[in-house]
Amino acid sequence: MASFTEEKKKLLLEALSYIKSFNGKIVVIKYGGAAMIEEQLKHDFAQDIVLLQSLGMLPVIIHGGGPEVSKAMERLGQEVSFIDGLRVTSSENLKVAEMVLSGTINKEIITHLNTFGGKAVGVSGKDGLLIEARKKSHHGGIDLGFVGEIASVNPELLLVLLKQDFIPVVSPIGLGKDGTTYNINADTTASRIAVALGAHKIIFMTDVDGVLEEGKLCAQLSANEAEKLIKQKVIGGGMAPKVEAGLFCVKNGVESAQIINGTDPHSVIAELFTDQGIGTKIVLK
Ligand SMILES: Nc1ncnc2c1ncn2[C@@H]1O[C@H](COP(=O)(O)OP(=O)(O)OP(=O)(O)O)[C@@H](O)[C@H]1O
Ligand SMILES: [Mg+2]
Repeated sequence: MASFTEEKKKLLLEALSYIKSFNGKIVVIKYGGAAMIEEQLKHDFAQDIVLLQSLGMLPVIIHGGGPEVSKAMERLGQEVSFIDGLRVTSSENLKVAEMVLSGTINKEIITHLNTFGGKAVGVSGKDGLLIEARKKSHHGGIDLGFVGEIASVNPELLLVLLKQDFIPVVSPIGLGKDGTTYNINADTTASRIAVALGAHKIIFMTDVDGVLEEGKLCAQLSANEAEKLIKQKVIGGGMAPKVEAGLFCVKNGVESAQIINGTDPHSVIAELFTDQGIGTKIVLK
């Protein structure tokens, strides 16, 4: 029989104390498109989420889908362009973005979660008036097209689902007051939802270990440091809205915000249940 080492005992005790502290708490997980790369990882992710729920946590998933949305646009001969990590979205782009995000990707996540015994329900920000959006204005008067920012979040639908043990899976599409559809950055969406739900924790799963500075991982990042690194363009692309989303959360009552590498199998479990945690922790000071 394999020996039960001191190390194993320590890990188990550590995990048990976290399990207890997370009981009944809402944990928002942003599942980045960049981390959804292979079948095995998608299965591992679904298995982890169902496990978290069985331990008494209330997981809420918000997904992105950057790479897949871009691929679909390219297949249809559409132009793909980003400014400051935000997708420029024409009306033709928007149709594809909504189709891929609320259709293909959302349903694929539901399929995996439900195959592993979860009761997952896919919604877009349009459902139950979850996300009221408006056109996002960008500095320098740059027109990003149908890219939205969030005017308000109405978490009622999510609370109803959570109460009945469903796992909500949200695609980052919002509805304007006048009926216009908007494509919204998924990190921003996740952060606003986390705050509206009074979540305990938010985890951003992406395709890098966390915030990197000259190739080195920043284990912790404060508001001041983040601002500096964004200004210096050390943090750019899709990482800038992610860091801003994390800061918005910790400034508005979410106890913990962490950016982790979703391409490491079972990284959510490593983050949640060990003292050490992984990735970059976003802190106020
Ligand atoms: N300082 C930095 N540290 C780490 N990554 C950075 C940094 N600056 C820019 N990035 C880029 O940010 C990317 C992560 O954001 P990206 O938007 O591409 O993925 P995602 O948000 O996980 O997925 P999706 O946008 O589909 O939801 C990294 O792959 C990296 O290329
Ligand atoms: Mg992104």
